Amino acid sequence: MERTLWYKDAVFYQIWPRSFKDGNGDGIGDLMGVYEKLDYIKTLHVDAIWFSPLYPSPNADYGYDVMDYMDISIEYGGMEAFKKVLDGAHERGIRVVMDLVVNHTSDEHPWFQASRRGEEPYKDYYIWRKGADEKTPPNNWDSLFEGRAWRYDEERGEHYLHLFAVKQPDLNMDNPRVREEVKKIMRFWLDLGVDGFREDVITFISKREGLPDGSKLLPAAKGMSHYSNGPHLHEYLSEFRDIWEQYDCVTIGEAPLVTPRKALEFIGGKRPELDLMISFECMEGDCFMQEYIPHRFSLVKLKLIWERWQKGLRDKGWNFLYLENHDHPRVISRYGSEKYRVESGKALAASYLFQQGTPMIYQGQEIGMTNIRLATIGEYEDIQTKNHYHRYFTREPEAKRMERIWRASRDSARTPMQWDGGEHAGFSAGEPWFVVNPNYTEVNVADQEGDPDSLLNFYREAVRLRKELPVVRYGSFRQYERLNGKLFVYERRSKAQRLLVICSYSEEAVRFRAPRGYDLKKGRLLLHSHGEEIDGSGFTLQPYETRVYLFQDRRPRAEI
Ligand code: NOJ
Repeated sequence: MERTLWYKDAVFYQIWPRSFKDGNGDGIGDLMGVYEKLDYIKTLHVDAIWFSPLYPSPNADYGYDVMDYMDISIEYGGMEAFKKVLDGAHERGIRVVMDLVVNHTSDEHPWFQASRRGEEPYKDYYIWRKGADEKTPPNNWDSLFEGRAWRYDEERGEHYLHLFAVKQPDLNMDNPRVREEVKKIMRFWLDLGVDGFREDVITFISKREGLPDGSKLLPAAKGMSHYSNGPHLHEYLSEFRDIWEQYDCVTIGEAPLVTPRKALEFIGGKRPELDLMISFECMEGDCFMQEYIPHRFSLVKLKLIWERWQKGLRDKGWNFLYLENHDHPRVISRYGSEKYRVESGKALAASYLFQQGTPMIYQGQEIGMTNIRLATIGEYEDIQTKNHYHRYFTREPEAKRMERIWRASRDSARTPMQWDGGEHAGFSAGEPWFVVNPNYTEVNVADQEGDPDSLLNFYREAVRLRKELPVVRYGSFRQYERLNGKLFVYERRSKAQRLLVICSYSEEAVRFRAPRGYDLKKGRLLLHSHGEEIDGSGFTLQPYETRVYLFQDRRPRAEI
């Protein structure tokens, strides 16, 4: 089958199923709920849905601990409900991408159960090592979620590796049988009609031979350099490509620590091993590496990261653009302003939706959902959140520790979707599995539907425009005001069109001067957050004001 690279024109919408919409009233989001909302999703003009895991799971990490790769959890409605959603989405011209979580399984997966009993052929499906004794792990690696990366198993009499939770043992990808299993899973879903995969921490699947100790100097994540971009990664991804290249699908690899140059090793060249990569750099505008090591938000840092990716992949690869997903707190609470929630939400939307690449919108982002601040750690659900609280900064005063959690917890992105101002925000007829953000009476889909100035309608219009304008797909990228900490101004330029995007990130009014060669009166104002008259080439931008202009060049520029 010919691969059409449809993803280059697509906009994705991510669903974290547990909190999207409950269709059967048990308090847990499900596929019946998604089915009800397919028409809503269509109104966003998106082309594809990425589902966070829907497989049967004990939910130690909410679905990222898979018990059966070829089924759909009963909690979500089972296979029948999935097929209905798949067909319903396809009928509406929306593709469906599954999460492929193959760095690890659940410890309740039958493979692991058999492996711990030493049964063939599963004996070497996981990474087992002896260690000096029960209490001494085979090396000093840290788990990213729970203490050390090894757990001693009584039954097997050995330690197993778990880079994430204890209940998420790492698969041994060096075992060819395991790779065959992965290919079988891929074929299974692609044959069923799904349109691709988002591949969970795929750059961790190959571990360095001998599993050497990581640097002792690191305070956390010891060992990462021995499993991130490991020795056989390209080989294994290339094997997987043999399967998916036979389908018109997309592959999106989640890749912590990836840089543009590194990304091109995977997505560049004639036979890429992945179509797109999810880098974490765009999440580092207010932190070092991850949200638990915060610093003040720096627009300049964020802009330079965006620029590096736009330029770094130009003509060689394709960007994956996002501001939120289920692993990061809400972006308005981080990079924007809760006080100017709608305005800053619009500035953020325009900042990334007109860049080159494939954008994704995360559920609730389109209505400007914000972070939650729960009083005690006991009210949080997420394993990573709890781990951070109990393991790091434990000597700080309680209030400070909770502030860290408020700022960084993934649970802020996992509160139920706010559909309306009624009970439980219209998410469920029953008691929701997790707390609803109390701001749902002001922040919800129903209220924004009919309001032409709402964030929701701004997203719709921005997505519609981006798909209508070839310059967004093909144009070059250039930044103005690069070192200005209050403004993000960028240009997309093709032979006949120039798009100028102007976003203020300031709670105060900012004076703006159009870049040289731009007469704003001659441009068409396609999108604006405040809608005030403009005079001349300079004007004052209101807090978080956003404008998107299109210029048609009568004499096409020679250089492009
Ligand atoms: C990345 C996923 O996005 C995250 O939610 C999960 O906890 C880890 N990988 C482990 O699977």
